[in-house]
Amino acid sequence: MGWFVQRKTVRKGPQPLVLEGLRAESETEAARQERLVATTTASRAAKRLKRLPVFRASASDQPRGAASDRFTDARLALSLAFTPAQPVIDPALFAGRSDTLTTLIRSIEDQRLHVIAYGERGIGKTSLIHVLSQAAREARYLVSYTSCGADSAFDEAIRAVANDIPLIFHKDYGPSSPEGERGDTLADLLGPAPLSVRQATDALTKVTGTRLLMVLDEFDRVESSEFRLSIAELIKGLSDRASRVQVMIAGVARNLTELVDHVPSIQRNILALPVFRMTDVEVRELIQIGEERSDLRFEEAARNAIVTAANGLPYLASLLSHHAGLEAVSQSRLDVTVADVDASISRALVEQRRRISKDVLGRIGTSMDEGGGAALAGLSNLAQLAGGAFDVDELASAWPGRPEGAVRTRTLVERLVAEHVLLERTHATCGVTYRFADDGLPIYLWLLAAQSRLRERVPRARGETGRGVSTAISST
Ligand SMILES: Nc1ncnc2c1ncn2[C@@H]1O[C@H](COP(=O)(O)OP(=O)(O)OP(=O)(O)O)[C@@H](O)[C@H]1O
Ligand SMILES: [Mg+2]
Repeated sequence: MGWFVQRKTVRKGPQPLVLEGLRAESETEAARQERLVATTTASRAAKRLKRLPVFRASASDQPRGAASDRFTDARLALSLAFTPAQPVIDPALFAGRSDTLTTLIRSIEDQRLHVIAYGERGIGKTSLIHVLSQAAREARYLVSYTSCGADSAFDEAIRAVANDIPLIFHKDYGPSSPEGERGDTLADLLGPAPLSVRQATDALTKVTGTRLLMVLDEFDRVESSEFRLSIAELIKGLSDRASRVQVMIAGVARNLTELVDHVPSIQRNILALPVFRMTDVEVRELIQIGEERSDLRFEEAARNAIVTAANGLPYLASLLSHHAGLEAVSQSRLDVTVADVDASISRALVEQRRRISKDVLGRIGTSMDEGGGAALAGLSNLAQLAGGAFDVDELASAWPGRPEGAVRTRTLVERLVAEHVLLERTHATCGVTYRFADDGLPIYLWLLAAQSRLRERVPRARGETGRGVSTAISST
């Protein structure tokens, strides 16, 4: 070993080794050695780099490199056609909901109502708002969109809206005023002191020559009851003064009062819009839109499997369609089979499982082994429909005409609550409610049940595809 020494030359990156005996030779030979070592080091580094995964599409959504083929294109198109991690922004990708949109538009333009849209998580509220906003902008409305957070405050929300209102639309300024020409906004007129509801109403009532839609999305995340009360008072003030500003609120809730306090005072001024689960026809349309965009073909059995597993939730429909399409493309196919849908559920389960603790996963496993799968699936559906917390009466309604199912589930619920692992019980003023210990559990349990139902109905779903199919249930 002493035959080898490390060179003292300071260089960046890995230090090459050279033979000591060669030091005495001519400069040219030493330089040649150095070049050889450098070349070897560089080629090793290049090989290592090649092993690292790379982005397959550029930031401008173009396939990268010369090796673009129909599968690379399909993969890219799929990620643009189904966007489970993002709301739909492009109206061309928006499926169904045309009655809901019509109701919204008519209420806003014919009745000048403010809107409160509510529904379960992932039902499509934000997508609906984006598509409505687009339609409003086409009708020359100004739209100011705010995604609320836990610490949202009234003053900050009003200033954000005011910033979106150019002074050319202000009664006291107008398009020919120097301030209007300069591009000043309503926000420039507001002093530094925190705004009261009255001051905000006064300022917004000055809007003229246009109409403004003030959108407050994710309103359920707001923690301040003062903020909620101020918004209710603002709605009342804007309505009473026939302002050209309309408020649109959206958030997770199973009823209106859960989302906005003080509803009685504004009852006549608002459209309360529950956003329901999609019909099967609408979920089919969602799949078809993605299919047309991506050049993939979903077999009829694959469509049916997605429709059943999605259970009217656009989030699940989009997620499973996306994963199933990717599964087909990864096997150099453009036709999506029921086996791809099975694999897509497995993949979704693996993703969900990362967010759930080992204890909880273990308890689910034993419940399934004891035959509690159907009861857990029913409970997960109830929890999703109720936006998290469900009550005992809803337990019975989940098994219409099958009292034994309700009794079995009630027993399971009591046992799970006593164990403090899967379910929690809360005693509230409105009665006893139950909630899963983790927000990701309802979707996880639903997908588990959907996969086992799919495999019962279509046995060929299992095993036809090579990867990942059987991992999800067996490892829980
Ligand atoms: N009408 C639709 N057509 C196609 N895809 C939709 C539609 N509505 C929703 N989606 C898809 O469903 C998923 C959830 O949608 P969105 O974010 O709008 O729901 P949300 O109700 O606002 O969710 P959250 O409660 O988490 O705020 C997204 O992936 C979106 O792409
Ligand atoms: Mg949303």
